[in-house]
Amino acid sequence: MKNIVLIILGILIISAGVVFALNNNTKANSDNTTNKNILVAYFSATGTTKRIAQNLAKATGGDLYEIKPLKTYTNADLNWHDNNSRTSVEMNDPKSRPEIVTGDLSIENYDTIYLGFPIWWGTAPKVVHTFLEKYNFSGKKIIIFATSGSSGLGNTANNLKQSVSKTATIIEGDVLNSNPSVENLKQWVKKF
Ligand SMILES: Cc1cc2nc3c(=O)[nH]c(=O)nc-3n(C[C@H](O)[C@H](O)[C@H](O)COP(=O)(O)O)c2cc1C
Repeated sequence: MKNIVLIILGILIISAGVVFALNNNTKANSDNTTNKNILVAYFSATGTTKRIAQNLAKATGGDLYEIKPLKTYTNADLNWHDNNSRTSVEMNDPKSRPEIVTGDLSIENYDTIYLGFPIWWGTAPKVVHTFLEKYNFSGKKIIIFATSGSSGLGNTANNLKQSVSKTATIIEGDVLNSNPSVENLKQWVKKF
């Protein structure tokens, strides 16, 4: 009799262990699935913002997407000392929306979008507005980050709000000029 009780007790303990392990596994899987809802989209003319975006995708487990202008910016285009350079002309024109390459991005797959770019003349480059106006960001959470020579985000978030539906939330992230590591970025994303 004593043996039977011990066997039944043993079976119960093993079953409880199996149920616990299965539950934990499901949780780990669902955490991974959540990360699949994250997109790190960026525009970078000279590679600085690109590096941060790559690390941020690693830190979040999100997908990485480059916003590519149809016509790449040359060094002459990027010359802010020249009032007639392409960027000077674009940034002086509130209506400017330089064309971007579109194709394989399914924005409906994502809930949270980290959106990165260089600061140009104190705000986001116009191609970022083109990107926001090209896709439907209704109900999405958009966290902006940037790199710059020294400027902060200033009025960038408010400027970008004009290019998305009222149901999209634009959250001001940071200018990340210290080239943060993947580990640093894992801490940084906890803010949002
Ligand atoms: C046209 C243009 C305008 C810029 N305007 C500013 C600015 O207003 N403030 C600032 O701190 N840096 C400014 N910068 C510097 C860039 O923000 C900085 O170099 C950035 O890290 C470049 O990022 P990228 O390599 O991803 O393109 C400007 C650069 C360019 C090309």
